Amino acid sequence: MPKLTIAIDGPAGSGKSSVARRVAAVLSYLYLDSGAMYRALALKALRHGTSPDDERRLEALAKETHIELRPPTPEQVAAGANNRVFLDGDEVTQEIRTAEVAQAASRLATIAKVRQVLVAEQQRAGAGGGIVMEGRDIGTVVFPKAELKIFLDASPEVRAERRWKEHQEKGDRLTLPEVFDEVIERDKRDRERKVSPLVRAADAVLVDNTAMGIEETARLIVMLAREREKELAGAAGGKP
Ligand code: CDP
Ligand code: CDP
Repeated sequence: MPKLTIAIDGPAGSGKSSVARRVAAVLSYLYLDSGAMYRALALKALRHGTSPDDERRLEALAKETHIELRPPTPEQVAAGANNRVFLDGDEVTQEIRTAEVAQAASRLATIAKVRQVLVAEQQRAGAGGGIVMEGRDIGTVVFPKAELKIFLDASPEVRAERRWKEHQEKGDRLTLPEVFDEVIERDKRDRERKVSPLVRAADAVLVDNTAMGIEETARLIVMLAREREKELAGAAGGKP
């Protein structure tokens, strides 16, 4: 069977990471969380005290930073981790999952030259196909020719509640209204920015998983992927 490039885009808390990881495991594909790259760079900028408005410094920072995503250990999978994230050689898998880092990531993600650096890395990582990559602009910019594109969505209330529960489990003291505001503010910035805004690609399948669990959502996407694999095998002259 041909190996597909699967792009999953959508707003914060829509289930991209959990669902994409599951789909990749079932299909034996690679999995890449592009948001983790924006978060890792944001963590470095925060540690350096770099202003989120200093575009030239952030571009230079993006160019001189080494971000690596690796598959999680079995213990990290059990704890819900998706990719292990290394920033200039040091593991920052946990450190990048704060609301502060999320906000900083969405601010530096508005800068075209920062995106260019990270998008080039993502394209290199996915060049061989057989990958599920998730983010905001995967189906529109990173892999516009992806054979399967999903736009994953859920109601803002459900997305905020999911994220709040994660914070609760980690012992973060954020209230549900605080998390709701963080998610809504970030979505608005991601949807309204000039470069690579969060938008559904014309050929993306809209999957609303407001009332669906991770398993059910992943099963639906695996089914769509298997159909696409068969179509492509048929088009290439193989048996359908
Ligand atoms: O990557 P994204 O921000 O889109 O979402 P996620 O990190 O995969 O999911 C956010 C939280 O919602 C996680 O704790 C998931 O377990 C949970 N979730 C859920 O309860 N039901 C779904 N259908 C999808 C995700
Ligand atoms: O997990 P969650 O959906 O909350 O966010 P994320 O996927 O980790 O992404 C963090 C931020 O990075 C987003 O709010 C976007 O501003 C940015 N991002 C982006 O601009 N393009 C991507 N392909 C992925 C993330």
